[in-house]
Amino acid sequence: MGYAETYAAWQADPEAFWMEAAGAIDWVRPPSKALFDDKAPLYEWFSDGLVNTCWNAVDRHVEAGRGDQIAIQHESPITHATKGITYAELQTRVASLAGALRQRGITKGDRVIIYMPMIPEALEAMLACARLGAVHSVVFGGFAANELAVRIDDCTPKAIIAASCGLEPNRVVHYKPLLDAAIDQAAHSPDFCVIFQREQEVAKLIEGRDLSWHGFQYGVEPADCVPVEGNHPAYILYTSGTTGQPKGVIRPTAGHLVALQWSMTNIYNIGAGDRFWAASDVGWVVGHSYICYGPLIAGAMTVVFEGKPVGTPHPGVFWRVIQNNRIKSFFTAPTALRAIKREDPDGTWIKRYAQHDLQAIYLAGERADPDTIEWAEKHFGVPVIDHWWQTETGWAIAANPLGLELLPFKSGSPSVPMPGYDVQVLGEDGHPVAPGTLGSIAIKLPLPPGTLPGLWNAEERFRESYLTTFPGFYETGDAGMIDTEGYLYVMARTDDVINVAGHRLSTGAMEEVLSAHPDVAECAVIGVADALKGQCPVGFLCLTSGVTRDPAEVVAECVTLMRDRIGPVAAFRNAVIVDRLPKTRSGKILRATMVKIADGAAFKPPATIDDPAILNEIAAALRTIGLATGEAAQTG
Ligand code: COA
Ligand code: AMP
Repeated sequence: MGYAETYAAWQADPEAFWMEAAGAIDWVRPPSKALFDDKAPLYEWFSDGLVNTCWNAVDRHVEAGRGDQIAIQHESPITHATKGITYAELQTRVASLAGALRQRGITKGDRVIIYMPMIPEALEAMLACARLGAVHSVVFGGFAANELAVRIDDCTPKAIIAASCGLEPNRVVHYKPLLDAAIDQAAHSPDFCVIFQREQEVAKLIEGRDLSWHGFQYGVEPADCVPVEGNHPAYILYTSGTTGQPKGVIRPTAGHLVALQWSMTNIYNIGAGDRFWAASDVGWVVGHSYICYGPLIAGAMTVVFEGKPVGTPHPGVFWRVIQNNRIKSFFTAPTALRAIKREDPDGTWIKRYAQHDLQAIYLAGERADPDTIEWAEKHFGVPVIDHWWQTETGWAIAANPLGLELLPFKSGSPSVPMPGYDVQVLGEDGHPVAPGTLGSIAIKLPLPPGTLPGLWNAEERFRESYLTTFPGFYETGDAGMIDTEGYLYVMARTDDVINVAGHRLSTGAMEEVLSAHPDVAECAVIGVADALKGQCPVGFLCLTSGVTRDPAEVVAECVTLMRDRIGPVAAFRNAVIVDRLPKTRSGKILRATMVKIADGAAFKPPATIDDPAILNEIAAALRTIGLATGEAAQTG
């Protein structure tokens, strides 16, 4: 069946469609039905089935006789390590780790935070939790101690599994002091921590709390897979919302399995024995779905890559990994391709490596600019498939489903909605707008299997954030349009979330950090266009009256504060001091207008603005840091 028939089959009978998809998963007890809608508008899938994620990602492949196949390939251009772990080895390692966790009291439903860099042990920790029915929450290594502390307090883990360090090209990231600081800062304390000591750094363990990864597994009974109900949380993944408190997205076990298996076959055209690589990080949703779970559930090989697209050591490193591992489908963020293109515009590095098996390149995480797509198509000669999704959905809302059929591409569009997603563009009145008209992108409820059934400990926030603006729909937070042929265009966020190098960040959270500086009376953070990272944050600081310090010093302190509170990943380097912020008469800061001024785009001062003269002050301040230089910005 092609795309149109498949989408129509889902529309005609969603229940039958998803029950058939569920047939690709090994159940301990198959579900009696797919959708559970008795708590609508809160929905669940396959709730009365019994299943285990680790079984489906690991054991079943060993049982099927593919134990000798490589499951995880580690490639670290930073340490020069390259090693493969077979499915049989993975099963032994994960069962042993799960056994040790169980012996220390971890059981089904307990939360476990994982704070690890891009090493296979990160995936093993995730799978060991899944084996026991424990709920993991992976925290990205680029976050500061404070962000880790917030997550510790929200999901109250019984254990934290961490590595001694992470490796960035320019420095060793000392995870252990960050972990210790986070535990000191948090109100909740884990019962114990497990530390994987890396060769590059041996961390000092705290007696009575910290256990060594190898030591605590010694002599324990390996653990079998624990069956869990279909609606049991597989994991919690925190993502940025509009405030400093991140949203704990819950991933339900059975829907996750069914959706990822379906997506591997039909979107990525990947099956057992194939080789797949998503160059992201386990701290993000792409890492959860397509470094760890998706490829393993499909019985494919996955690559854990510890490096960067450029500088580790050169812009050909991605292509070398693709060649050496005969990768069939490769997934990355547009930012990564932009970084490579900047250093290798003519594709000289690409030509040095063979990509015999490469069938397609997938892009997601941020809007893919047509220039970058065209550059990649020209140099690789394979389809470059933009697809759109979010932490909340866990898999693509819109894509070009290669496994079904490759549809014609349209520049600037991530193509068409996947089965399960009834995507509509709504106007402010909540009604669908005409094709080609911009509006808020919303998805008619219920969302398909694998998507979030709610937020951890925050049902009200879940309803308010996603279900209230457009009753009967899930609000994606993205704006865009659908054309007459049903192709979707995702243009911008409708909220205060920005996207920096494919990383989703909250300007609200950054404003909370800046407000904590003693000399800052009021502030605003906006995301301005950046040729490499898509967007970069810029801060506006109004100093407390009477403060006469050197403005450059205050800005430098704010940059450090952001690094300490949110982390280096915020990439917060620019701020300007202004006397006042542009506001509406009712006091709302005009962030969207400030973005336009910074980007040098044409804008009209909103009719509700309190004092239009402030906009000139804002433009002048931005020009001191090289922004607001476009002609439109000068003329307003
Ligand atoms: N642990 C600790 N620190 C980290 C980190 C991690 N896992 N990941 C990033 N950082 C730090 C970096 O060291 C850097 O710190 P610095 O300010 O001291 O240099 C900062 O966070 C910003 O990092 P990054 O976003 O990687 O920017 P960069 O300028 O170093 O590199 C790119 C630019 C484009 C090469 C890089 O952003 C990139 O590879 N982007 C693709 C992102 C991606 O794949 N996202 C997944 C979404 S699907
Ligand atoms: P995250 O939850 O970190 O995956 O970020 C999700 C957000 O990233 C989406 O809501 C979009 O704003 C943006 N995004 C992800 N993929 C795309 C894409 N292909 N095109 C445009 N925006 C995207």
